[in-house]
This record gives sequence, C-alpha cells and structure tokens, in this order.
Amino acid sequence: MEPKRYLITAALPYANGPVHIGHLAGVYVPADIYVRYLRLKGREVAFICGSDEHGVPITIKARQEGITPQDVVDKYHTMIKNAFQKFGISFDIYSRTSSEMHHKTASEFFRNLYDKGKFIEQTSNQYYDPEANQFLADRYITGTCPKCGNESAYGDQCEQCGSTLNATDLINPKSTLSGSLPIMKETSHWFLPLDKYEPWLREWILEQHKEWKPNVYGQCKSWIDGGLQPRAVSRDLNWGVPVPVDNAAGKVLYVWFDAPIGYISATKELTPNWEKYWKDKDTKMVHFIGKDNIVFHCIIFPSMLKAEGTYILPDNVPANEFLNLEGNKISTSKNWAVWLHEYLEQFPNQEDILRYVLTANAPETKDNDFTWADFQARNNNELLAVLGNFVNRALVLTHKYFEGIVPNAGTLTDYDKEVVDEMATVRQKVEKNLENYRFREALQEAMNLARLGNKYLAETEPWKLWKTDPERVKTILNLSLQITANLTIVMEPFLPFSVVKLRTMLAIESFDWMRIGNINLLPAGHKINTPSLLFEKIEDSVVEQQINRLEKIKNDNLLKNSDVKEQLPNITFDDFSKMDVRIGTILSAEKVAKTKKLLKITVDTGIDQRTVVSGIAEHFNPEEIIGKQVSILVNLEPREIKNIVSHGMILMAENANGKLEFISPTSEVKNGSTVS
Ligand code: 2FM
Ligand code: ZN
Repeated sequence: MEPKRYLITAALPYANGPVHIGHLAGVYVPADIYVRYLRLKGREVAFICGSDEHGVPITIKARQEGITPQDVVDKYHTMIKNAFQKFGISFDIYSRTSSEMHHKTASEFFRNLYDKGKFIEQTSNQYYDPEANQFLADRYITGTCPKCGNESAYGDQCEQCGSTLNATDLINPKSTLSGSLPIMKETSHWFLPLDKYEPWLREWILEQHKEWKPNVYGQCKSWIDGGLQPRAVSRDLNWGVPVPVDNAAGKVLYVWFDAPIGYISATKELTPNWEKYWKDKDTKMVHFIGKDNIVFHCIIFPSMLKAEGTYILPDNVPANEFLNLEGNKISTSKNWAVWLHEYLEQFPNQEDILRYVLTANAPETKDNDFTWADFQARNNNELLAVLGNFVNRALVLTHKYFEGIVPNAGTLTDYDKEVVDEMATVRQKVEKNLENYRFREALQEAMNLARLGNKYLAETEPWKLWKTDPERVKTILNLSLQITANLTIVMEPFLPFSVVKLRTMLAIESFDWMRIGNINLLPAGHKINTPSLLFEKIEDSVVEQQINRLEKIKNDNLLKNSDVKEQLPNITFDDFSKMDVRIGTILSAEKVAKTKKLLKITVDTGIDQRTVVSGIAEHFNPEEIIGKQVSILVNLEPREIKNIVSHGMILMAENANGKLEFISPTSEVKNGSTVS
C-alpha cells in the first residue's frame, strides 16, 4: 500500500570540513533523486538534513586552528549548506545541531529515556590526560591498531582496516592533546543496554527487512550475531548537548546519540505539524547514508526510538559503499578529494554533469572509482552525444521547417507506434529501479528514452524527406518533440538544472510524473523557443589540468610524509664559517671494488683536483654524474675509506622518493665558488 507521506533523511555531515564528491555520490545525490521523484508523483515529502556540529573531530579542529568549536562549525555549516544548494540538493530544511531547537529536543529525548529508566549508569575506567587535565574521548587517543598494526589508529576506529575499536584496545596509546601516556581514571556514564534490544532487532531487521540492501543487511546481521553490548551515550567533553541530569557537569551527550535526533529537531523546525512525520505509522521513513553509518542508523537509533516508544522506525536504510578518486581512497587529511566548492568554481553551471557522473557510476553495491577520464567520457559520449544531441536536433529541425511551431502528429506508421509503445514502458522501468534505490539503473533507463529519440531520428531521417514528403516530417518532428517533453519529466530527478533549461526551450511548465509516455504533452501549434546547447564538450586540456592538480597533491603528500629530521641544536656563526663549501665539477667516477655503495670520484674544486669517496653508488651510475657541478665540503679532515683517502664530502639531499640528489647550482658557476 502507498504510504501517506514520506520522511527522507540524508546523513548530517560533520561540520569540520567541506564536502566532496564522495559525500554527494554516497548520500545526497541519491537522496535528492528519490525525493524529486516522489514530489513529481505528487507525494507529500519532508526531506531533512543539517550539519552535525558536535563530536570530538570538531574540538580537535578548533584546537588545531586556535579558534572555538563554534567558529569551526559556523564556517563549515555555511560552506556545506551552500555547496548542497548549488548542486540542487532540494532539502526542505538544512538545519544544524548547535541550534537551540536541537539542544532542547536532544536534551528532552535523553531526559525522557532517563526518566523511564531506559539507561544503565556504569562507572568505568577511562583514559585521562593528566597534563591536559581532561578525559580523553576516543578521537583524542591514538595508538597501534591491534588488528592491522596501523600506528595511527583512533580510540574508536582504525581508518586503515575499518575496525571499530575501544580506546583500551589500542597498543601504545598516546594522548593527542599532550602526546603523553594517558592514565586510567574512574568516570561514570549512561549506557543504552543494546543487548536488551537484541531479540527485537533480530526480528525487526533479520526477519522483517530481508529486502534491505545486502551490504546493509549483512552488516546488521554481523553486529547482531556478534552479540550487542551496552553502549555509552554520554562523554566527558565540554562541546555538545549537556547531559540534562544533576551532577553531570563536564558531560555531554555522545555525538552519535544527539546527531540522529537532529533529524527530529530539523523536522520540528520545518513544521509545527512534525509529529505526523515521526509518529504516524502511515509515514514511510528512509535514511540515506554511507556505509560507515549503518550501525548507527539500523541498530542504535532504532533502539533509541523503540525505547522512547512513540516514534516510527525506518522502512529502509539504503546505504552506499564508498567512492574512490583515481584509484585511491578519498582522504580529507591528504587533500585527496574533489571538493564541491572547488568544482563549482572550476566548472560553473555544470552541476548536472557531476550529478550525472556520480549517479551513473554510483557506489551502490561496491566501492567505485571516480576518474576525470570517465567524467569527460560520460559528458562527451552520453550527455552531449545522446541527450544533448537528440534534443538539439529535434528543436533545430522544428525551427528550420516549422518556425518553431509544433506540427500536427498526422498519421502514425507502424514504426512510429513501436516507438510510442517503447516510450510507454520507460516510466515503469525507471520507477521500479527508483523504488528499489537502484539509481544507476534508473538513470540508464531514463537515458534510454533519449537513445530511443536519437535512433528514431537517425532511422526516419526527416531532413531527407522534407522536399518529397513534408507531412511525414511533421509526424516525425511531432513525435520527436513529444519525446523531448517526456525527457523533461523523466530526467528531472537526475538533471534538474538541464531540465529547467529544456523546459524554457520548449516553453512548458513541469508535468506530473505519471504523464511519462504521453504523446500529447505538446499540442500542435504550440510555439517553442530558440534552442541553445544543453551540454558542451569537455576538452582534453580540462581533464589534464585536473589530473595535474591531483599529481601535485600526491607529490606534496609524499614530501610531507617523508621523515623530516628534527632540527639540530643551534650553532654560532663562527661554527658555520668554519665550513668551506665550494662548487666543483665531477671529472671522473668509478665504483670502489667489493663495495655496493661507494664511488671514487675526482672533483675539480677550483682549488685543486682531488679524490672523494662518496656513498652514492646505489643512486647513480658513474658515467651519468661526470661533468656535473656539485657542492663539496673541502676542508673536512681527510679520511681513509677502503684504502682510498677521501679529501672532502659531496653534499646530497634526499628527494620525496628517497633518492639522493646533488646540491647543484641552477646554472653553471665557476669551480671554486664558495657556498655561503
Ligand atoms: O558520518 C558522518 O558524517 C556523521 N556526521 C553522520 C551523522 S548522521 C545522523 F545521524 F545525524
Ligand atoms: Zn586497523
């Protein structure tokens, strides 16, 4: 049975950084497609999102930047909100969890469960930083992951192997505040006893929601089968929603307790009639999230709602896998991402291309890769060559032959009727995929309508018939224009900006979803506007520019990650001036017998020609360095190495790949020039 209304939520992004293509592909574009589709069908929908503004990463960011957590969230909330709006993510509300409404709602929710005795209070030993005088929330502790050996795993999670951890699991824990070894100190917290909800969760998810996506169902099953433990819902921290009970100073709600309540607070901000969305069984609630959020949306939040008792539960949680970028995991800290605000600057008015590419290549069933080559190919070979080309031909021909007036349909041939029959199947095909959260396939089916249009024009070739059979041309163009009008409906969820343009060209308003397949959307005699191009070719140079940008980031990261030695203790100018460094030219070089590393080198130092033994044989062939100008410390006490006396030292530096480089002048100088 059709639900009465829909409550669609999209994961609240953390306001500790800008959003990137991974966010868009995993959560916001699919959610937006779904919502736009529902709206086109005339359904009542509330599409809810906002910034997740609590949690330790935000306090860490504030500390790093020397600003307050509120400054951090203010900055990123605005940035994220703008980016979503520019990409046409059509939230009914984009709120934030630092809002008064949210604090009140989350606080009351906690208090309600507290009063009903739904929590257990437990005292435990937690890590505490004695230097910083602070309990260390998960993210403030790093150490070695017991599962994979990653030395910079966090107290709650290892980002390398994806394991969920407890801070006490870490080997060699270290406080990120002071770098010191944390001590154990007693603290008390409230826990939601998830173990008590296990039988219910087993029935509700594993029996009643077998239709959930295999990745979602599988994760839930493994959590439930693994045995659920009571989960702490408070933290020792000074940023967040204060725990609303006596004697809880310095304690706030755990961010994963308050964040999903953010969906409720935002709905309250949207409408005083919010309860119909949250408490009426005829509402269908769907959470769009990424795969790292599954346990919170399928197990913890539903258990909270169940504990409260008056709320509905999600009908589905279509979590996506992750999107990689050019073969590597997207990483904020490594700047390995395509940031939405940067894309918007570099590709103005081309939001639909990214929406299209991210949908066509969405990480629905497995992690997927975004590449700039694919971006270019999908734009040039699909959006432009299929959709843009068809629309353009239909409109240009109508102007050429009929001054932009929709001609009569006349009599349809058998072939025309086949095309019409084919059109009639499009709606259901797209719809079936959308209803099952298969957005890639839905888009594929929608594009098939443009393919059908292209094929129709290619096979009927109206340009060849104009002179001999203008009546036939009228029919062909009428039908082509009807297909174009159909495209404005079926493409709207995917390409909202292009559809607005197309509607303007066709001089039409938007049509209801159910009219897809209709061949009388444009009445004969209707005047259309002058067409302009829907899509433009993306040149190779544009792609190269993006690839170069990523290459540069890769190199910068290599440099950053190579171990930079600590600075040595200061020396006086006198100490420095004792070193006599000159530029000299290598005259000859040969390997020192029976050694791997040593080269015997003769250098013209300008002062003399001398022998130097240098440990660079693994980095250079003797012949390739002859003739090079290098820096040489000439007044180093001579030393005997493998029976050769070395008179000085050639100076070297290590590049990002660990290879040695000479310190050479950028253009030739006189041998014997001093380096100072
Ligand atoms: O993973 C994240 O980005 C979280 N901020 C998602 C929160 S979703 C919801 F529960 F608020
Ligand atoms: Zn690990």
